[in-house]
Amino acid sequence: MSDTYHEHPTSFHRVLDQSSRTSSESPNLKWLARINLRKTRAAGKILRCMARNSATAAALKLVRSTPICSHIYKAFAGYYLPFSSLEEAREAIGALANRGHAHPYAVDRHMEYSQAARPSDYAALYYIRPLVEKLRTVIDVGGNAGNLFYCYSKYLHFRSDLIWKVLDLPEVISRGRALAIRCGASQLNFVESWSEASGADLLIASGSLHYFEPTLPRLLADVSSLPRHLLINRTPLVDGAKVAIVQDGGAYRVACVLHNRNALIMGLEKLGYRLIDAWPVAELSADLPGYPEYTVSGYSGMFFSHHTSS
Ligand SMILES: C[S@@+](CC[C@H](N)C(=O)[O-])C[C@H]1O[C@@H](n2cnc3c(N)ncnc32)[C@H](O)[C@@H]1O
Repeated sequence: MSDTYHEHPTSFHRVLDQSSRTSSESPNLKWLARINLRKTRAAGKILRCMARNSATAAALKLVRSTPICSHIYKAFAGYYLPFSSLEEAREAIGALANRGHAHPYAVDRHMEYSQAARPSDYAALYYIRPLVEKLRTVIDVGGNAGNLFYCYSKYLHFRSDLIWKVLDLPEVISRGRALAIRCGASQLNFVESWSEASGADLLIASGSLHYFEPTLPRLLADVSSLPRHLLINRTPLVDGAKVAIVQDGGAYRVACVLHNRNALIMGLEKLGYRLIDAWPVAELSADLPGYPEYTVSGYSGMFFSHHTSS
């Protein structure tokens, strides 16, 4: 276990204290939006309760399939519905997004996570460890403020010339850059374009693929030189058709896509990747009350290597 970043946790806390720590009640929402949020969450609780009982679950299904009632159901359920795209799900969230991924609490929470590995990180560490001696470029898709870099640095001894590029949204990146300067994390770079994945030794997509409408194979199809290894972690996947849903992160809400597992694997195989291993991520789940077909009882992790990598 390397202790490169052990001296920095206090820096994280100083940075976090300066940002607006926010409770799960979204206090900075306007009063009308707050009422709407309470109403929607109450509807979610009622639907979840009804979905647990087979008779009321069947009644819900019937209501949804009856033309007039389905409008009433939609108005009642708010964002607790399946959507055909991220865009449609985002529209349903509207002002309740409360800045979504860009909410300061989202970065605060991830930096708190960086203090220690979560259960699913151990599979990631297992697959990164044998690569670490040769690892020069990592692209960390949806890498937030670099929390995985800080966290994995405690467990792995990275090369001093390793460049760890975090691809994220502009507001998240600007906090990540400020934090990296404070922590002296000069190996961390922040980027906004998928073209930065070109030629990487390792692409990590941990907890992020579901925030992209295109599948990973589609996103990689435009990358000129494919990354040698792919580490996918904390990803909700379904066996049926892909669907978009809304996640309530407490202080903020975001839209996400539940991608189809086979489409992901087959698409990557077509690009020349070989699935080395897959693991369940038992600590995370997703559900849409009343739609058992979209229940993801455990997220997924996978490791792929390109056939050209030795
Ligand atoms: C749940 S966090 C994952 C953080 C980290 N990778 C981990 O495993 O702990 C998801 C990240 O995806 C980022 N994200 C969402 N949509 C994105 C997009 N369109 N482009 C880049 N990053 C995005 C969010 O800002 C957030 O940092």
